[in-house]
Amino acid sequence: MEKREIIRLLQTKGEERTQLLKRSREVKDQSVGNKVYFRGLIEFSNICSKDCLYCGIRNSNTNVVRYEATDNEILEACQFAWENSFASVVLQSGEISSPAFIKRVDNLLKKIKQLSNNELGITLSCGEQSRETYLRWFESGAHRFLLRIESSNPDLYYKIHPKNSNHLFEKRLESLQFLKETGYQVGTGVMIGLPFQTYEDLANDLLFLKKIDIDMCGMGPYIEHENTPLYQHRHLLMPKQERFDLALNMIAVLRLLMPDINIAAATALQAIDAAGREKALVVGANIIMPNLTPVNYREEYQLYEDKPCLDEDKELCRNCLEARIEMSGSEIGYGEWGDSLHFRRRIKR
Ligand code: 5AD
Ligand code: FES
Repeated sequence: MEKREIIRLLQTKGEERTQLLKRSREVKDQSVGNKVYFRGLIEFSNICSKDCLYCGIRNSNTNVVRYEATDNEILEACQFAWENSFASVVLQSGEISSPAFIKRVDNLLKKIKQLSNNELGITLSCGEQSRETYLRWFESGAHRFLLRIESSNPDLYYKIHPKNSNHLFEKRLESLQFLKETGYQVGTGVMIGLPFQTYEDLANDLLFLKKIDIDMCGMGPYIEHENTPLYQHRHLLMPKQERFDLALNMIAVLRLLMPDINIAAATALQAIDAAGREKALVVGANIIMPNLTPVNYREEYQLYEDKPCLDEDKELCRNCLEARIEMSGSEIGYGEWGDSLHFRRRIKR
């Protein structure tokens, strides 16, 4: 698909859009099937050394109470995931690279493997780290890593991140490369509907994902957060409903471009539309991340406004998602890792 065609598809409305979403659904069914896989999400710390201009837990936001979940709390959430046949968890945190943090994650990985008989799959989402750290965590049991590029256009990247050595676009790219070389299944993605973002930027984002040959993707609408610098540009934003529709179009076009990758139904979709995640499953996503973060911490992990599931504990989130997914006509792949087929094929090549 050429860039011009992608730009056109991203903007479609009405009958043509219906056709696009129908086509991506068909491609999804043919390539990855109708199963949805659970990844239990544990947001284990909101302490962050970075200052991304869009993010509610950026270092300079002093309204956030900083927390670190205890090992016991994290392991209990993993135990729940394992007992409920989630097959896989995601450990996510702010970005910290201290030796203590690196060691802590390393220990946790080993303990999670132990408690689950080596069965629970572990994805990390802990930001940019050195090649050595990525390798160390890989050897201790992590096999997937999520690190969004946020925008593949360096100019836009620096409009949504501070221009300093702690927020280098090049470093982000290099980290993605390290992750791949280490042997991880690599996931990345972008925010959709950012201020200053054009349709051409988004088309380039999709072509970027294809070019660097990712295994997994998570992308959702940008949602403004009052206590962040980017909030001042909110008058430039398209209405939330349009950002939502555009996010679904992005998912649909990505499914056409990369039929066999795993695509997550991003939680941010549900901050705009109560049925947002199910709608993403219908048009092309096949991964969902039920929230397993202890409820008392959730208030303090609000990357954006209207983040859903603030009060629903893990039991409720599971039941809720189970019902939603079944209503949307998909099947849940309980007890299966649901690895990216793209990754399997990639490592055979
Ligand atoms: N709106 C939408 N998504 C956001 N993220 C962070 N802040 C926001 C926001 N204001 C996303 C980023 C990050 C992921 C963990 O959450 O893409 O990579
Ligand atoms: Fe840390 Fe956004 S400021 S992830």
